[in-house]
Amino acid sequence: MDSLSTPQVTRVLDRIYREAERTDPAVFDHIIAEIERTGGPKSAQYWAKELDRAYMPVAPDVGRLLYILTRARRPRLIVEFGTSFGISAIHLASALRDNGAGRLVCTELNPIKAARARENLRSTGLADLVDLREGDALQTLTHGLDEGVDMVLLDGWKEIYLPVLQLLEPRLNPGALVIADDTTVYPESVTPYLEYVREEESGYLSVSVPLDDGLELSFCAGGGRARAGDAP
Ligand SMILES: C[S@@+](CC[C@H](N)C(=O)[O-])C[C@H]1O[C@@H](n2cnc3c(N)ncnc32)[C@H](O)[C@@H]1O
Repeated sequence: MDSLSTPQVTRVLDRIYREAERTDPAVFDHIIAEIERTGGPKSAQYWAKELDRAYMPVAPDVGRLLYILTRARRPRLIVEFGTSFGISAIHLASALRDNGAGRLVCTELNPIKAARARENLRSTGLADLVDLREGDALQTLTHGLDEGVDMVLLDGWKEIYLPVLQLLEPRLNPGALVIADDTTVYPESVTPYLEYVREEESGYLSVSVPLDDGLELSFCAGGGRARAGDAP
């Protein structure tokens, strides 16, 4: 049986998805009402505060795709930007367990969510594969990735998908996969990122995947060093 289907993992995933269904609609209704009432664009701080309680997990199909990609690519190191309560991390770590190798570095800004994600990973029995770093990805991902990164999931605030990718780029190994979530729901925020990975000379082969809120799957054949201007 694959790790994703064990009772220990399915029990935890079912519970977090149920909690998300109970919590997220009310949080988003409140935000929409607030935006209609006050109007105007909102700051990153506003979103961080308002979305404090929101789970915003990857959809179950997206989770399964993450599991499949991880099994097929057999990464030694995966980096996840935006962990929330741990749903995508559980899918990625389940695949690492079944590969018999590899580790996951994930990062979450909100300390309460990070603590809950840690607890959830412990309950699945996958915590030993995961290094969960609390704080801003632009700081937490600056170190401790020495073996090079084989796979990246971008699922934090959309405005910094591109800076986070550029931060990781010098560490991308040849054949790295980069998956960006929510590409159709926040088109303005993700446009700079999409333009970058789709550019002809980008070093990425990139395709949109019409699952749930849209994904962009990018393949970095030569590794990130060439793109980062660091090639020998
Ligand atoms: C869409 S949710 C992630 C959902 C998660 N991948 C899952 O499937 O369960 C986005 C998360 O990114 C976190 N986040 C936003 N900006 C961040 C940053 N700069 N560094 C680390 N985490 C960040 C938010 O606090 C939020 O919990």
